[in-house]
Amino acid sequence: MKVLGIETSCDETGVAVYDTTLAGAAGLRAHGLYSQIALHAEYGGVVPELASRDHVRKLLPLIRQTLAEADLSIDDLDGVAYTAGPGLVGALLVGAGVARSLAWALDLPAIGVHHMEGHLLAPLMEDDPPKPPFVALLVSGGHTQLVAVEAIGQYRLLGETLDDAAGEAFDKTAKLMGLPYPGGPQLAALAEQGTAGTYKFSRPLTNRPGLDFSFSGLKTQVMLAWKKSDQSDATRADIARGFEDAVVDTLTIKCERALEEAGCDTLIVAGGVGANKRLRAQLQAMATKRGGRACFPRPALCTDNGAMIAYAGALRLQAGQHDDAAVRVAPRWDMASLPAV
Ligand code: KG4
Ligand code: ZN
Repeated sequence: MKVLGIETSCDETGVAVYDTTLAGAAGLRAHGLYSQIALHAEYGGVVPELASRDHVRKLLPLIRQTLAEADLSIDDLDGVAYTAGPGLVGALLVGAGVARSLAWALDLPAIGVHHMEGHLLAPLMEDDPPKPPFVALLVSGGHTQLVAVEAIGQYRLLGETLDDAAGEAFDKTAKLMGLPYPGGPQLAALAEQGTAGTYKFSRPLTNRPGLDFSFSGLKTQVMLAWKKSDQSDATRADIARGFEDAVVDTLTIKCERALEEAGCDTLIVAGGVGANKRLRAQLQAMATKRGGRACFPRPALCTDNGAMIAYAGALRLQAGQHDDAAVRVAPRWDMASLPAV
């Protein structure tokens, strides 16, 4: 089954074709991404109306381009998957409207995909995918969650952030030290030049039981340290390193605890912060020490993309699930309410 995937929940237009007859990474026939970063940079964050308008401009050309790269015509498709939530309502409606129209015109089944399920399943698109049960760490700009995955589509929330998401903490911390939007990847790059231990920030909520996170206090600690400092480039890098180490340690401690609690040794990691090198290395080391493994998508599939939507949609369409023809989106949507596949 060849499924077209469309992602427009925030500031990236993503399109991909996933072919379920080809195993693992080979199934991803093509994927294209158009990032709106430059458009939003001057505002220091995503402007929802501008995001929607840009998806309108970019989506159809990107679909044509991606199909051409996959060497497929629109008539070769067997299904359409699109992000139906959570996300910005206007942005979601652009993808849903185009996907629904295509499905209607081509008489194909179509399904609205949960964006976070897309992220969660992305590691399974790579070669040698793990089989459930496993624990998933979802770390993006909007979410930080630990989820027990009993089976595809059966998700039990183990813990989540009580305030800022990990990616949001990266972005806000970067911003307060003067880095341009979106600061997460730039802060991570800067941390590479910093010296570990020069600045030591807390590992929030790790000294008590539980699997919830809190990252907003960390941002305040950084702000105070930055204000008191000489604000030189070297200091900025040292603070970035201290902040990154605090977030990575905190996530690692909680992941190990979650594996312990769920009684399993396989961790899958997804979402934009999953592209972070130090996080990948530390989680892999922790899982290996336990005799298990940590599985990640390639960095390009950690951040928002159409491939994860094509893949998640393909699994559900293949199982005979699809939605009716209404253009429906869900800006807020609990992943635990999804049906099993
Ligand atoms: O999953 P994603 O692309 O979008 C959402 O659904 O939120 O995640 C974007 C988030 C941003 O906060 C970005 O700063 C963060 O992921 N991010 C990183 C890195 N690359 C992206 N954070 C830390 N280190 C990175 N290398
Ligand atoms: Zn995302």
